[in-house]
Amino acid sequence: MKKFEQFLKEHLPTSKSIHPTYEQALQNMLLAGGKRFRPALMLGVVDAINPLMLDSARHAAYAVELLHTYSLIHDDLPAMDDSPLRRGNPTLHIVFDEVTAILVGDALNTYSFEVLSNAPFSDTTRVQLIRELASNGGLNGMVLGQAIDCYFENQALKVEDIRVLHTNKTAKLIAASLKMGAIIVGREDLGETLYDFGIKLGLLFQIQDDILDVTQTSEEAGKLTNNDEDKNSFVTILGLEESMRQANELADELTQEMNSFDENLQSKLSSLLTKYINRHK
Ligand code: IPE
Ligand code: IPE
Ligand code: MG
Ligand code: MG
Ligand code: MG
Repeated sequence: MKKFEQFLKEHLPTSKSIHPTYEQALQNMLLAGGKRFRPALMLGVVDAINPLMLDSARHAAYAVELLHTYSLIHDDLPAMDDSPLRRGNPTLHIVFDEVTAILVGDALNTYSFEVLSNAPFSDTTRVQLIRELASNGGLNGMVLGQAIDCYFENQALKVEDIRVLHTNKTAKLIAASLKMGAIIVGREDLGETLYDFGIKLGLLFQIQDDILDVTQTSEEAGKLTNNDEDKNSFVTILGLEESMRQANELADELTQEMNSFDENLQSKLSSLLTKYINRHK
């Protein structure tokens, strides 16, 4: 992922204007780091099937990371989760102001699609990638999940509905990252399998995030923890023990599915997947 970090630094959003802090604010959260889980998934698929396409694939991996970073910036806003810490750094509405955080989110969202539209693929592939990112990250994906998450604060949902919430706010973008890897290498058949796998992986990822909210300190997580009390998190609704049990069950299921991937895919993805599948333990 060293090359990805280098690519990101070379393609940071830039803007020269009379605004004294706009450009710095645009770059702040991207440079703060984070796990880069979604880019790693996408690049892992490309590496397994056609490593010659890795240089081109970094454009698409970066686009996903841009959209994800925008979602975090908005997620932390006072109107949403009201969090002062992200990726080990103070959030944009703390360092700058709320207007800046809203507008930087908007800018990274659209920049994500600008990056994809300029990526070195055929027109057909570019449109497929744009569609995949938009449909999973947008109004019937991440944004819907965030809308449900915030609307139902302090109103307990049924666990089936929380699965839908988590699938939208988190799993669809993770599933899309894997599928976009398959689109880049022209393996749409594999894209469907990986998408289904990614939905389960993303659900587990959000259940783990809910668990880590109560088991990690803010310092360990690099973001405000113990912040889900009003939320429909797995832990708030089911308790820590039952959440752990369900996470373990999903982790076992995913490990089995991963072991049935073909050899190349396993060799490029299994260490990353194993690390994340087990991160709540
Ligand atoms: C945080 O995502 C938001 C969720 C969907 C749980 P990550 O845990 O991937 O955050 P970063 O990118 O590492 O900061
Ligand atoms: C946010 O879920 C998911 C997004 C779409 C950003 P959370 O609100 O649980 O994410 P964290 O815990 O703040 O990272
Ligand atoms: Mg949230
Ligand atoms: Mg949050
Ligand atoms: Mg969380």
